[in-house]
Amino acid sequence: MSRLGRSLRLARALSNTARAATYDWLGKFPPAPLMVYVELTRRCNMKCQHCDIWMTAQQHENLAASEVPGHRLLEVLTGLAPKGLLAVDLFGGEPLLRADLPEIIHGLKGAGLHVTVTTNGTLLTKERCDSLLTAGLDQLLVSIDGPDAATHDAIRGKPGTFAKATAGLQMFSEMAAGRARTGVNTLVCRPNLELLSQMPELARTLGASQLRLLPYHQCYPFNQFVQEDKLMPRNHDIAALATALRLVMERAGQMGLHTNSRTYLDGIERWYRGDPLTVRCQAGLTVCDINGFGEVYPCYTLARPAGNIKTQEFSEIWQSANLTSHRKESKGCDKCWQSCYIEPGLRLSLSALWADRQAVLHDVMEYFLGHKDRA
Ligand SMILES: C[S@@+](CC[C@H](N)C(=O)[O-])C[C@H]1O[C@@H](n2cnc3c(N)ncnc32)[C@H](O)[C@@H]1O
Ligand code: SF4
Ligand code: SF4
Repeated sequence: MSRLGRSLRLARALSNTARAATYDWLGKFPPAPLMVYVELTRRCNMKCQHCDIWMTAQQHENLAASEVPGHRLLEVLTGLAPKGLLAVDLFGGEPLLRADLPEIIHGLKGAGLHVTVTTNGTLLTKERCDSLLTAGLDQLLVSIDGPDAATHDAIRGKPGTFAKATAGLQMFSEMAAGRARTGVNTLVCRPNLELLSQMPELARTLGASQLRLLPYHQCYPFNQFVQEDKLMPRNHDIAALATALRLVMERAGQMGLHTNSRTYLDGIERWYRGDPLTVRCQAGLTVCDINGFGEVYPCYTLARPAGNIKTQEFSEIWQSANLTSHRKESKGCDKCWQSCYIEPGLRLSLSALWADRQAVLHDVMEYFLGHKDRA
């Protein structure tokens, strides 16, 4: 990409971000979110302890038939690009189970969007990596929940998963050099607290440039089957948690890994302690979700769909009374501390811009500009 092209993309990302932050400051909402999380499917090949999505398959006869077809997803998402959308995160279920994943990525890239795929990494063959890269994927995030097979496989519910996910990520990182970025998503939960400080090194060894910590939550709609909770940190785990988070932050910094913001990591400890946390959650403002059935949610936790893109236009849903009432609810909401909704407010707000312009610039590049845009 030419120097002019790169500068234009950065200017667009910065101006869309500043515009969205200003809308919020004025008590309004932007014409489109900056980032949409798209659950491409509810199908999954794992049996994770922390997520019930794999169990929902047992409640539905044919999950694939109820997914939103690729052409409809593309129609909706590419239509949002001129209104301000910058990035799309494709997740699931397991997104690599969607045979049309490369076509979806290709279509989104055609509209100039930054595209991320979040995967459990177990289905990454050389051919699959090649097809994702050829489609133009910007970023691949692989979930790895511990630095060793015993920890990861126990959380993921299937032996052999650590070996497949780490081999898949390493292969993708090598094939993607100079074309796409890779990262590791790690669940923060009771069984891996003492081991979290080893994650920056593992991420680096696998060629990743990012490490994102996701604190375990019970409030997702896909936690409905959890019976006995062995994953939630208890009060007596908080000291170990605080030490682990400090070490992760230090080591990630030394290794040059992009990771969660300091305010967010501090908040994880406070969240598990049950201390009140007041930040402007971005659900329904700069971020929103489309689930595997086409329903639009400001966030998953409030769990009331605002509409369905299979039968409605996105703009109709975005401006609906349903979503307006959600936005009122999310203002001052402290029901969760999920990175995908909370961090944009911490990193891309006017107050963040005021406090540290360099940090905001860096985060805008990480979130919205691909490897190729920055080279
Ligand atoms: C829902 S999964 C979908 C993508 C893919 N199947 C995977 O495992 O990466 C996306 C991310 O959400 C995380 N996740 C799932 N349930 C969670 C929970 N209860 N609390 C926190 N993170 C959770 C997963 O660990 C994963 O990193
Ligand atoms: S976390 Fe991912 S791999 Fe695990 S059950 Fe949920 S969707 Fe499947
Ligand atoms: S803080 Fe409230 S509105 Fe925001 S993501 Fe969590 S549950 Fe949803």
